[in-house]
Amino acid sequence: MEILIKEAEILERVRELGRQIEADYQGKSLTIVAVLTGSLIFLSDLIRQIQLPLRVALLQASSYRGETTVAGTLTINESFLPEVAGRDVLLLDDILDTGHTLGTLMNWMSERGALSIKSAVLLRKIGRQEVHLEPDYCGFEIPDAFVVGYGLDYNDDYRHIPHIAVLPSSGPEAE
Ligand code: IMP
Ligand code: MG
Repeated sequence: MEILIKEAEILERVRELGRQIEADYQGKSLTIVAVLTGSLIFLSDLIRQIQLPLRVALLQASSYRGETTVAGTLTINESFLPEVAGRDVLLLDDILDTGHTLGTLMNWMSERGALSIKSAVLLRKIGRQEVHLEPDYCGFEIPDAFVVGYGLDYNDDYRHIPHIAVLPSSGPEAE
């Protein structure tokens, strides 16, 4: 598979994001809420770059089936989500595509009484967004292709690949 972003580049960028987040959340009650499963590796690399007291929480949100790019109905599973009321929440996702996932989750978080809500994504796909929102922290902007690795999957495969790769026969022509 064609490598889009090398492992070393990802780690360097994640380090930078960590330093920014560390500077921005001084003295705050940070809870990082990672969206399962795609953001697991991003989460584990990122939190080790943030030398601040922080809590980690997980939630599952799924709208995708395989390579389909149609945003379905979002299913949210909050079994692993601790209390976020009064906390400064940073929502973490692997990729911002149409924006439906992050948009829905930001609203959902505010209904739960979070003090502040920001978002961080490793990747943002250009030309795909349907929901207007600007991620507060973004690792890389990428062209419209289906990518895997560093947590991102295709039908639950390829998450363990240490770099970001383009899935063959994906992209605008294949849709
Ligand atoms: P959105 O709701 O359209 O922004 O989609 C976000 C979710 O779709 C992400 O959390 C991913 O799970 C999934 N997704 C979107 N594009 C890709 C991709 O290129 N590769 C793997 N997963 C993707
Ligand atoms: Mg996901």
